Amino acid sequence: MAEKLYEGKAKILYTTSDPAILLAEFKDDATAFNAQKKGSIAHKGRVNATVSAKLFTLLERSGVPTHFIEQAGENLLRLRRLQMIPLEVVVRNIVAGSLAKRTGLETGTVLGEALIEFYYKSDDLGDPLLNDDHILKVLTLVDAIQLAQLRHSALKVNDILGAFYLRCGIRLVDFKLEYGYDNAGQLQLGDELSPDNCRLWTLDEDRVLDKDRFRFDLGDVDAAYQEVLERVGATSF
Ligand code: C5P
Repeated sequence: MAEKLYEGKAKILYTTSDPAILLAEFKDDATAFNAQKKGSIAHKGRVNATVSAKLFTLLERSGVPTHFIEQAGENLLRLRRLQMIPLEVVVRNIVAGSLAKRTGLETGTVLGEALIEFYYKSDDLGDPLLNDDHILKVLTLVDAIQLAQLRHSALKVNDILGAFYLRCGIRLVDFKLEYGYDNAGQLQLGDELSPDNCRLWTLDEDRVLDKDRFRFDLGDVDAAYQEVLERVGATSF
């Protein structure tokens, strides 16, 4: 029967009777700043599972392979098991967060072209930013062709999700993706697509609808997550 495989900060992964399939339970627990800040956001598990399910479905239909199979409960997703690449792939359209800190550019500055950053997925090291040489020559996490595939996929995801969020009245400021390989060695998008790992600002007044409300104690965190769910739910592909 199902066994707990891994418990992360926001999700629990369970095995199933099929070794190639996992169940992900999305928790209401919230952490930020490498788990130095901890709390809970009401109904976050349901919001993140449901928003992720819809966006994975959109990506699949647009030709992006993902680990998503189906939503199996309000906070449960059935997923293909992947061998994860220990990289966080961040795509940015607008300056915010660590890019504003690193460059001194003003938050809200629109980038001429989407940019991609890679971070090493390591809690011990605090997920440091890596350049291509670190990835290819020092850590050898992927080869040059795979790195190009990651960039290509991440930019395609950005185009698809950015256009969809615009129709929801939301600007997709930036987001983080994680990838892995399935049994057949095919690259697939993993993890989740939710207000936990995206910055989402309303088009009309730049109202923050994402985890920054929790990170920076902006208030109305539950309501912001709920609003993302409602806007995404009300918008057809
Ligand atoms: O903090 P930073 O500006 O680098 O974050 C960029 C984007 O990646 C944000 O949308 C943030 O929510 C997401 N992110 C994440 N998990 C991390 C780091 C960043 O989901 N460990």
